[in-house]
Amino acid sequence: MPPPWKNPGTIVITGASSGIGAALARAYACPGRRLCLLGRNARRLEATAAACRENGAEVVTDQVDIRNAADTRDRLQGWDTIAPLDLVIANAGVSSGVLPDGTPEDWQTARMTLSVNLDGTLNTVEPAVDLMRKRGRGQIAVIGSLAAWRGLASCPAYSASKAAIEIYAQGLRGMLAPEGIAVNVVSPGYVHSPMSARVDGPKPMLLNADRAARLIRKGLSRNAASIAFPLPLAIGTRLLTLMPSGLAERILASFAFTVRTGS
Ligand SMILES: NC(=O)c1ccc[n+]([C@@H]2O[C@H](COP(=O)([O-])OP(=O)(O)OC[C@H]3O[C@@H](n4cnc5c(N)ncnc54)[C@H](OP(=O)(O)O)[C@@H]3O)[C@@H](O)[C@H]2O)c1
Repeated sequence: MPPPWKNPGTIVITGASSGIGAALARAYACPGRRLCLLGRNARRLEATAAACRENGAEVVTDQVDIRNAADTRDRLQGWDTIAPLDLVIANAGVSSGVLPDGTPEDWQTARMTLSVNLDGTLNTVEPAVDLMRKRGRGQIAVIGSLAAWRGLASCPAYSASKAAIEIYAQGLRGMLAPEGIAVNVVSPGYVHSPMSARVDGPKPMLLNADRAARLIRKGLSRNAASIAFPLPLAIGTRLLTLMPSGLAERILASFAFTVRTGS
């Protein structure tokens, strides 16, 4: 049997109602593939499902808030009993940061960001691991961000949430490889989506979501430990972590941004 990352038959994607998640669903949609799509907005989720069905995929959808661990687990378990999950992509997330009037993010918003991006990701990954462990086979991808590689003054909680899931997934990769389960971290730069549309400021090397989805799909099919793009921005961000903090902060000041609130 080929490894699970070669041609996953059944794929779960969280946050499939918008942006990168919707583009990933479309990128994977083809005859013979079953897509299990999660989101909250039924209308947008159904629009993604319709596009995927047009491409020949079998599609099921459900509305779940990933902050609810029991609901998320129930959904994944239910789908797994119908067709074993080969690939689970924990993509759903929210952004927050300095508001357009310069007000720093409030603590409540910071906690909400951590709750969706960190707890919500764990709520997705944990049941996936439990299910895949039983058959010693599967792949789990976590959508992080280049903003995880260096704490950004424009979005401290977002940076922290993405750093936490990146490090967690790196550890899981080593822990689960002997059990036949692959774990991958995806670290995008700026990708055109409703989330990035709420960001005001420089967005160097902004990619469209379909291109980002193709890069993610390619990396996952190779079981790459880290899928970071665009490469020049990834290299630049990595270099920032090697510089004295004062210099890195001066450089980052010219890339500062604000984040408008929205759903
Ligand atoms: N766009 C970028 O520049 C960029 C860069 C780096 C990383 N990322 C990461 O890529 C992922 C996708 O971002 P995007 O740009 O595609 O954003 P987006 O267009 O705002 O989509 C976010 C998705 O997450 C879902 N979601 C949010 N909160 C949820 C919750 N509590 N429960 C269930 N689903 C929830 C949304 O569902 P509903 O709309 O149905 O509520 C939506 O489908 C995120 O993890 C983001 O942090 C994005």
